[in-house]
Amino acid sequence: MSGRAAVDSRSAELYRTALGLMPGGVNSPVRAMRSIGRDPIFIERGEGCELVDVDGRRYVDWVCSWGPLILGHASPAVVEAVVAAVRRGTSYGAPTAAEVELAAEVGSRFDSVEMVRMVSSGTEAAMSAVRLARAATGRERIVKFAGAYHGHSDGLLAEAGSGLATQGIPASPGVSAGSAAATTVVPWNDLDSLAAAVADPPAAIIAEPLPANMGLVPPEPGFLERMRSLCDERGSILILDEVISGFRLARGGAQERYGVDADLTLMGKVLGGGLPSAAYGGRADLMQRVAPAGDVYQAGTLAGNPLAMAAGLATLRQLDSAAYERLAELTEELADALAAAAEAPGAAELVQIESAPGLVTPFFSAEPVRDFAGAASCDLDAYGRFCRALLERGVYPPASQFEAWFVSLAHDSAAIEATAAAAAEAFAEAMA
Ligand SMILES: Cc1ncc(COP(=O)(O)O)c(C=O)c1O
Repeated sequence: MSGRAAVDSRSAELYRTALGLMPGGVNSPVRAMRSIGRDPIFIERGEGCELVDVDGRRYVDWVCSWGPLILGHASPAVVEAVVAAVRRGTSYGAPTAAEVELAAEVGSRFDSVEMVRMVSSGTEAAMSAVRLARAATGRERIVKFAGAYHGHSDGLLAEAGSGLATQGIPASPGVSAGSAAATTVVPWNDLDSLAAAVADPPAAIIAEPLPANMGLVPPEPGFLERMRSLCDERGSILILDEVISGFRLARGGAQERYGVDADLTLMGKVLGGGLPSAAYGGRADLMQRVAPAGDVYQAGTLAGNPLAMAAGLATLRQLDSAAYERLAELTEELADALAAAAEAPGAAELVQIESAPGLVTPFFSAEPVRDFAGAASCDLDAYGRFCRALLERGVYPPASQFEAWFVSLAHDSAAIEATAAAAAEAFAEAMA
């Protein structure tokens, strides 16, 4: 906790030590909770939809490891599968039956995925798919959208330069100007900018079909379809990043929900069932270019790791149509509960609740958010106050306005009611 009150907590003690050992005391920035103005909470364990911290406090968890835990923490099916797998060894660096089974499961869910390559992170999936698109088209430039996140490889850590459809500039020190310049960054939901950006045909357009890294900002009707047709017209590869939306929005992810097929699809999070795994896949003629079938090099020591394959398979096997219906119901219940909680202190006109199955974002904005500029103009301080107040009341939200809340099948009406009660007070505190 920030402030003195919690100075003696075990979390505070661990954080002090961690600060001297790891940059910012964490292994991934958002966990540090800086953007909501407090110190991180160190976790001891997860149970179903709850986290228990090292001081014994319980929280209803709306982060769920930022997406992988669609079944909640320590789901018995996943635990059993991983325990059975670990007894047979942790890694072989050789092919296994589980990889074949998982690849077939993925293919059965995504019409557009004829072949797949397992990797270890979403970052790696995105980076590898971009390489493949460049190889297939013989072009270098790619087009991405402002506010979309595709992992932290150099060319994908670019932001818009001045003017429309110009070369991107590095979004972080250390990203080479050359990598960023090969990326054009356009505003989400802006058809004219997109058309201008592909006038000179790029290797690829890469998009989160349902962006969730600027909060949840759905595509406007026709936007994904136009993206698809522009790629067809220009001979560019459409890379849809379903690292969040895949296996969550529907059986076949955003592509099923919106009826638009990618040439290459990025997957992660749910795919690994909480263990480090991700994948890229798509049209067979493209995937056949990947080594050793083809000449585009990409490899990984722990790719297709047997524990991750077991966790992923155990997770996906639970995700039938009844599970997706239930997830959609729970999400609607949470979105409605947050909207009702926002009414109480008169915050309704200052808060926009956006949701899609398995994902929710309360934007602290008077206007509906349709792009990154809208998300960035939210009242980030109010979101921070809201989150701090929730945490004090046993509810664990994503510590950033730009991340979605993740609903799992382990959540239930009791968890949603507890969240709604905490949220009513937290909205009042945030608006005070
Ligand atoms: C849409 C999207 N793509 C790619 C990534 C990168 O995945 P990873 O963190 O596994 O590298 C993320 C991570 O949050 C993501 O949300």
